[in-house]
Amino acid sequence: MLLNRIINYLYSFCTISFFVFVLLSCNPGDNFAPTISTIDPLSGKEGTIVTITGTGFSNDTTENVVLFNGKESVEIILATATQISALVPVGATSGSVSVTVGGKTITGPEFKVFEIEITSISPTGGKVGTEVIITGNDFSLVPDENLVKFNGIVAEVSAATNTSITTSVPEGATTGPVTVTVENQTMESGEFHVILSTVPENFKIAFIGDTGTDSNADAVLNLIKSESAAVVVHAGDLDYLDIPLVFEANINKVLGKNFPYFYCVGNHDEKEWDGADGYQQYQEARFNRLGITWSGQLGVLSSFYYNGMFFVTSAPDEFGIGSEQAGNYIRDELTTDNSIWRVAIWHKNQELMQIGGKEDQAGWNVYEESRKAGAIMATGHEHSYSRTHEMSHFENQVISSTSNTINLQKDNPATAGLDEGRSFAFVSGLGGKGIRDAEGGLDNNPWWASVYHINNGGQHGVLFGEFNYNGDATLARFYFKDIDGTVIDTFFVRSELE
Ligand SMILES: [Fe+2]
Repeated sequence: MLLNRIINYLYSFCTISFFVFVLLSCNPGDNFAPTISTIDPLSGKEGTIVTITGTGFSNDTTENVVLFNGKESVEIILATATQISALVPVGATSGSVSVTVGGKTITGPEFKVFEIEITSISPTGGKVGTEVIITGNDFSLVPDENLVKFNGIVAEVSAATNTSITTSVPEGATTGPVTVTVENQTMESGEFHVILSTVPENFKIAFIGDTGTDSNADAVLNLIKSESAAVVVHAGDLDYLDIPLVFEANINKVLGKNFPYFYCVGNHDEKEWDGADGYQQYQEARFNRLGITWSGQLGVLSSFYYNGMFFVTSAPDEFGIGSEQAGNYIRDELTTDNSIWRVAIWHKNQELMQIGGKEDQAGWNVYEESRKAGAIMATGHEHSYSRTHEMSHFENQVISSTSNTINLQKDNPATAGLDEGRSFAFVSGLGGKGIRDAEGGLDNNPWWASVYHINNGGQHGVLFGEFNYNGDATLARFYFKDIDGTVIDTFFVRSELE
């Protein structure tokens, strides 16, 4: 009897258990806690399909709540009792994955949300072959799995960690952003300046200022054309009419609209500098036509490369910019550059750095910071020509050499107390808008290597500089030629900046 009772009891129990089991099987989420055994893959980006394997899931995709570090996946594309396929949601961060079914939650392993990032690039400019370190996050440890491009040109990756890539500037690279692509994710850095190793042979720049638009200005432009200059650097005071269109048309008439004609702001250009059809906009349009990129406010505080040379424009005593600000800008821009030839361009003067009636306006900081960086100083404003010897100090007017070859040197920051910076400055203000006299004996100051003004037969003209002179990359030959064909100053410049 007892056996029968036991059998009956067991039978009833099994029957009930069976029905309970069936009940639970029909609706497992309501009663059984889910489990997670694996997550595949364990890392990925937003939108990656992640397969979660386990038990106790619901067949109904809407009854499984999947969180990636607390962020809900809004797209569950497949669900069975043992598998869920969910997309990594937008905005997800690295952390645990959890599944909630019927109010019960299981937390699974960590999922790493992979998001490549570039935080810095060093250096930010260099020649072909220069080693460049890209710092950031989520790079591939396998060097070849990081696709690095310099403005679209693929570069070789020699080493990689999760946070850094070692690469070098590829042959044929041009200035532009650096991109890193890892597993179809691409991140872009700021601009990398590609420095050409040498400027073209006998690369000729015409340095002028203070032109106007009358026949003298035309004669100057025609001289530039007949001397086959490749570039014009105009140190401000353009047409004196406040009509940028007229100035632009005058350049284009003689040299063409795609001629590399670079100018900075002068006191006569401030009024129509900004805005639509302003001088700056014409300059920007020209740069864009030529494919030249720049940083800063073009023609005011700006810098750019052209054919392997580095140019910095500044504007002391224009638009309320003081000498200190302008000089510091020059210093900062020149610090990041390694070119052999660097030119600092601004309009105004210090009284002792011109020979006419101009007072102290530019301040010394622009001269001193340019000198310490070994940059050539191109100015205008006074309507005559004056060119210094090699100087080791401008504020104190210290001449370091009267040789006909000027040596450009940078100050070496390692030698504290010793200032090795050497350079020269000139006023090339005979661009067409009149010829002035020398005043107060300023033209007799010993630092002038050459002066040209109304009292010594001055005529409108141009200072030409030929860089990479006859294939000597660190040599330049300069000559001032007037519109009558007379050469009144010839000298050489040796760059010791490498
Ligand atoms: Fe001026």
